[in-house]
Amino acid sequence: MHFCVTYMPLLNKTSLRKVLPDEAWSIARDTFNRVRKFQRKFERRPCVGWVRFGSLRRVDPIDPNFGFRYGTVIDRYYIQAFLSQQASDIRGHVLEVENNAYTRRFGGARVSRSDVLHYTEGNPKATIVADLTDAREILSDTFDCIILTQTLQFIYDMRAAINTLHRILRPGGVVLATCHGISQISGYDMDNWGEYWRLTGLSGRKLFMEVFPTNCVTVQAYGNVLAVTAFLHGLTAQELRREELDYQDPRYEVIVAIRAVSRLWTKTTHCLGFPLHATKSAMLAAAVNAHLHSEYMEVTL
Ligand SMILES: C[S@@+](CC[C@H](N)C(=O)[O-])C[C@H]1O[C@@H](n2cnc3c(N)ncnc32)[C@H](O)[C@@H]1O
Repeated sequence: MHFCVTYMPLLNKTSLRKVLPDEAWSIARDTFNRVRKFQRKFERRPCVGWVRFGSLRRVDPIDPNFGFRYGTVIDRYYIQAFLSQQASDIRGHVLEVENNAYTRRFGGARVSRSDVLHYTEGNPKATIVADLTDAREILSDTFDCIILTQTLQFIYDMRAAINTLHRILRPGGVVLATCHGISQISGYDMDNWGEYWRLTGLSGRKLFMEVFPTNCVTVQAYGNVLAVTAFLHGLTAQELRREELDYQDPRYEVIVAIRAVSRLWTKTTHCLGFPLHATKSAMLAAAVNAHLHSEYMEVTL
């Protein structure tokens, strides 16, 4: 069998057919097909009992703290990839949650003003203390960009928070949000404000499209089964190869990243004091919005 598995694929079926007598060819063909079937089965799934779990044969994780102390946390590898790809959106007046590390790192000189939002009092870096589900203290049309990494999963009324994001963005402003797809619970966050949700790429897209113009929401998911396994065990990005981290399998989403651009038309008309009511106006708004957005994209890309 070993000989067959190793050498049969090297033999060409057509050339064998030419040189072998009929009876021998019939045996060779059957063997060839059996070997292929065995190979395919093996490629798909090893036999029961053949998997070697090695260091992963344990019911508690290798590091329960996401691997923070040992290297780059795997979800952060993906969040940074997303923000680096969208770096040109991080400009003007930027809001970030908890601290402004990503604003400074990815926005640099494009940022004219940086604000930090925190849910509770006591964070010295916070310039705004607010609950995103009902943040009346934040004026509408304030920010050009909101970096909302790893926050939505901690807000029970996610829809209300997304409405606030849209309200406080300037016309044409951008929110860059990330949320866990597959992850352990974060003990610190659970104890302080609660951890409620996981998103899929599809639910993230639908939630944002309820508020933002549908053609202005893009979603990207990152991860694969190896990255998920390593992440759940608190292993770090340095312990995987780059190609292993960058392989994207849509069935295993570690991070769901959303980019949404706020409505230009309704925001502009609202600023000018012309709220839209009639269906006709709404249809006109949709058309103009699409046009304005395509112009906006051309300008910013
Ligand atoms: C893990 S931190 C995320 C921020 C950080 N910049 C990051 O990338 O990980 C979770 C944040 O969610 C915020 N948060 C939880 N509930 C909130 C709410 N209802 N409104 C606003 N922020 C909230 C907390 O202030 C906390 O800073």
